Amino acid sequence: MIKARRIGHAAFETPDLARAIEYYTRVNGLVLTSQERNRAFLATKVGQLVLELTQADTGRCTKLSFEVAPHSDFDGISRHLTREGIRSDIRSDPLPGTSKSLTFQDPKGTTIELFADWQYLGAHHQVVGVGPLKLGHVAFIVHDAKAIADFYQKVLGFRVSDWVEDFFVFMRCGPDHHTINFLSGETVRMHHIAFEVKDFAQIQTACELFGERDIPIIWGPLRHGPGHNVSTYHRNPDDQVVEFYTELDQMKDEELGYFEPRPWHHDLPQRPKVWNRSKPPTVWGPPPTEDYLRNRQP
Ligand SMILES: [Fe+2]
Repeated sequence: MIKARRIGHAAFETPDLARAIEYYTRVNGLVLTSQERNRAFLATKVGQLVLELTQADTGRCTKLSFEVAPHSDFDGISRHLTREGIRSDIRSDPLPGTSKSLTFQDPKGTTIELFADWQYLGAHHQVVGVGPLKLGHVAFIVHDAKAIADFYQKVLGFRVSDWVEDFFVFMRCGPDHHTINFLSGETVRMHHIAFEVKDFAQIQTACELFGERDIPIIWGPLRHGPGHNVSTYHRNPDDQVVEFYTELDQMKDEELGYFEPRPWHHDLPQRPKVWNRSKPPTVWGPPPTEDYLRNRQP
């Protein structure tokens, strides 16, 4: 009954709000659009809200928001969730530019916030740093990727784009190959957050910036197998992995069921499938560094 259409923003707690704002505005290239004493909201240069940061004891991702269809009936969605055994709250003016939202928790304890109306938080912002186009996806380590994938399919209308064997799932809610990923592991926490940039030239711009600022590139640039995005990874000051990517596979027609053909595809056509690890997980590029791989450790 619920159909998430697009990821809106991610909320993080951070032990050092000022340091996080400094990173996201000076390196990542977002815009600080409003700030209260313990909380800050950041948007992309096109003015879409993408991050909510709150001062707290530790750094963690606490919430993801998803846009649903205009004029969605939140009371009806709430009754539907109740029938599924999920408690939800409807809130007024929960976010800058959003008049109403409905929140509930997913099985790993992340708050899901649905919204149907939003306004640009300014436009044509001049940014310092990389300056991504949008928030693209968020990946989590969970105890059971299959169980949470089932929840996202059944409750939020996501579709499975790819599995890597039985431990890593990529899920879409729109044309993008993945908006959310789940890896099975021994802990429960965010694995990485990813922002889309315009093209490979902007990936290079990001790498040059990391070079200037002595920020280690912990994986990439590379072209992935699943999703086929060109990516580069670094860590933010809270030790969280941040990805910049471009050229992610697009499924423009769900009934056709294949991703838009691209020269780097080995499957013709490229359909959702199960990848195995007998081959490298990339089309090209270096293997991940130890600093990237420690991300999966508890
Ligand atoms: Fe990613």
